Amino acid sequence: MSKKLAALAALSTSAVGVMAQQSTFPATPLASKRFAYPTGLPYQADTESHLIRGGQSGYNICNSTTAGQDSMCQTNIFNSIDDFCLWGPPEPNMVVGDHEGEMVAWCTKEGHGTRLIPEGALTGVQWIRAPAYVSVVGFIDQTKINIRAGDWGGEMDPHGADLRGNPLGGLLYSNAFTGGGENYVQVIEWHNFIGGNSFCFKACDPAGSDDDKFCEHVFDRIGCAYNVPSAARDGVFESCEGENQDFPGTYTLNGQVMTYTQPPEALGAISTMPYTARVPASSNCRSYDSTSLFAALATVRPDAGVSASSSGVSASASGSATGTASSSRSTGASASSSASGSAANAQNTSNDAVTLAISGVSVLGVVFSALFLS
Ligand SMILES: *[C@@H]1O[C@H](CO)[C@@H](O)[C@H](O)[C@H]1NC(C)=O
Ligand SMILES: *[C@@H]1O[C@H](CO)[C@@H](O)[C@H](O)[C@H]1NC(C)=O
Repeated sequence: MSKKLAALAALSTSAVGVMAQQSTFPATPLASKRFAYPTGLPYQADTESHLIRGGQSGYNICNSTTAGQDSMCQTNIFNSIDDFCLWGPPEPNMVVGDHEGEMVAWCTKEGHGTRLIPEGALTGVQWIRAPAYVSVVGFIDQTKINIRAGDWGGEMDPHGADLRGNPLGGLLYSNAFTGGGENYVQVIEWHNFIGGNSFCFKACDPAGSDDDKFCEHVFDRIGCAYNVPSAARDGVFESCEGENQDFPGTYTLNGQVMTYTQPPEALGAISTMPYTARVPASSNCRSYDSTSLFAALATVRPDAGVSASSSGVSASASGSATGTASSSRSTGASASSSASGSAANAQNTSNDAVTLAISGVSVLGVVFSALFLS
């Protein structure tokens, strides 16, 4: 988002003539549009192709005809640990920051008219049901959903610098707030960070009065550790209940609630942070092995775009996941370890995990020199 914002800002000062002819903002911001799922969906939520970013690249009516690894579906379904979608680029080897507007849905389950996340791409996933939202944080071989290796990524949300959303026209629906089944609600406020082989995605309950605060979209430069703080671990697949996190950008210091202000990109890399985000406690975690969780992914035919070699890789990925997270029920132990153990969890993983759980201010210089600045 910030890169586009910078581009738009540059345009508005250096190309005034162009701007005069072509406007930027839609008549109605994406986050103000309401469509019932699935019957009320328009072919495209954004029809204003005359605006400066051009037209919506994909579509919102997604069905069996559109399903497959070249789907351009931009309607995201976000239900549960075995049934959610991430936003990923449409073509291989793309840098997130350059293609946020064109992201398409990559899902864990068939039936939504989308692409499927290739088998073995997800190597650890923690789903949280909190009072105000559902969220997922995890680890992924991002090249399998078309993100360039080494890309530190960026943020998708339904706002964007021009209020048309990233992806432009992207919609999100969930049955997690209504007891499941076909009772879908449109999620108005959500945010998704992906890059560095990790991701976090939060969908805020539209019935909650603070959905815009829990799913705040302005902290696009400080990643998952501050926007969706979690105790997710690579190799572990679990679904938990959780307490609400603090609103992104707020923290308590000496009993006083403080608000963080993200500096503008023009001031350079963010080298220090005044706080570490509190990891909310989780409980009633249920562990899974990835093969049972994502059974649909194993059955994706090679001609649907998932190569035979990728299923070979997945065998080892899911094997190691099973070793640490067999199908058992963990309760108290996971609740207590998640509140205090996040820093330790991050220690022996590579830099990517640091975006999920930053262990101390000392690493921030390293992190933020690379984080979301691409
Ligand atoms: C399936 O989705 C496509 C793309 O949005 C749309 O053009 C088509 O009408 C849909 N088919 C049905 C039967 O809804
Ligand atoms: C972490 O890595 C260090 C050195 O690479 C190793 O000595 C240590 O045993 C590892 N700790 C864990 C918990 O794997």
